Amino acid sequence: MIVLGIETTCDETAAAVVERLDTGRGRILSNVVLSQVNEHAAFGGVVPEIAARAHVEMLDYIIAQAMAQASRKFTEIDGVAAAAGPGLIGGVIVGLTTAKAIALVNEKPLLAVNHLEAHALTARLTDGTPFPYCLFLASGGHTQVVAVLGVGNYVRLGSTLDDAIGEAFDKTAKLLGLGYPGGPLVEKEATNGNPQRFALPRPMAGKPNADFSLSGLKTALRLEAEKIAPISDEDVRDLCASFQQAIVDVVADRLRTGMKLFREHHGTPTALVAAGGVAANQAIRKTLHRIAFEVGTVLTVPPPELCTDNGAMIAWAGAERLALGLTDTLDTPPHARWPLSEMSGRKPGAANATRLPAVDWP
Ligand code: KG4
Ligand code: ZN
Repeated sequence: MIVLGIETTCDETAAAVVERLDTGRGRILSNVVLSQVNEHAAFGGVVPEIAARAHVEMLDYIIAQAMAQASRKFTEIDGVAAAAGPGLIGGVIVGLTTAKAIALVNEKPLLAVNHLEAHALTARLTDGTPFPYCLFLASGGHTQVVAVLGVGNYVRLGSTLDDAIGEAFDKTAKLLGLGYPGGPLVEKEATNGNPQRFALPRPMAGKPNADFSLSGLKTALRLEAEKIAPISDEDVRDLCASFQQAIVDVVADRLRTGMKLFREHHGTPTALVAAGGVAANQAIRKTLHRIAFEVGTVLTVPPPELCTDNGAMIAWAGAERLALGLTDTLDTPPHARWPLSEMSGRKPGAANATRLPAVDWP
């Protein structure tokens, strides 16, 4: 089963062709990602209108490249998948409409994939991770702890009440004048800084659910920086190190609670799976390793290019759905918000279902 996948929910224009074997394992035939990071850098974050326009300008070319690298024609694929949300609506419309056109013209099934579901299922493509597993998704737009129980069967254990973790890194970098995207820059500064120098809060510590709240941490950091202004290079390093340590402590506390909830309701997970750009952070990764070890499971982190937004994860989620007969009609709408929690009653095998399972996250 061969599926074309299209991703345009944020600032990556991406297309990929993925094969799903009868064994359930996957093979990436091509994976083309064009980052718009340079177009947004001057603004310190993603500008939705610029993103949508860039998707329109580049998507046809990116799809053609993905098909050429996979040596496949549209007539030789089994389905066309696109991220139908959640995300920046202009971009989602561009990707989904393009997928519908390709599906219509070539008489192929459409698969309207939930972007979060695609992140959730990537570990099955890269590592063949069996259900059930615990997903920690931490990117610029999302922070979620999810019990992944089956295709279309997800239980949210926690999510952020305000800023995503990557967003908190980006805002910290902006405040300290480091540039964008901020995560890698803050991590670099933190390496040579003193994590104990500034007493920053650990929001939500000890709370019984696995939710996050990071906007208070960002404000506390700003107040500390203002107190010692003008800040020196050493101050920047210490602020970054103190901030990163606070995030690491918060992640440890929230995931320990998440794992406890997982085990209470779903047994021991086959893995703790990390996804999203923040999974690249070495300090956070070390903590995730420790937490997986504590509960007797393993940490699985897909390779960086599949942790961040890409077309292969959309194609793969589409293939997993197609294998169950879960296709979508051409009037499927794009979603800016698309919570991913309990099943919406859509049964495997129900062809032409119009919605993915409802998932209950922002
Ligand atoms: O998954 P991703 O590439 O894109 C989306 O947000 O969808 O994640 C990007 C986010 C940015 O906020 C970036 O600052 C953060 O991931 N990030 C990091 C690191 N590398 C990327 N955050 C912390 N440490 C890193 N090394
Ligand atoms: Zn994403």
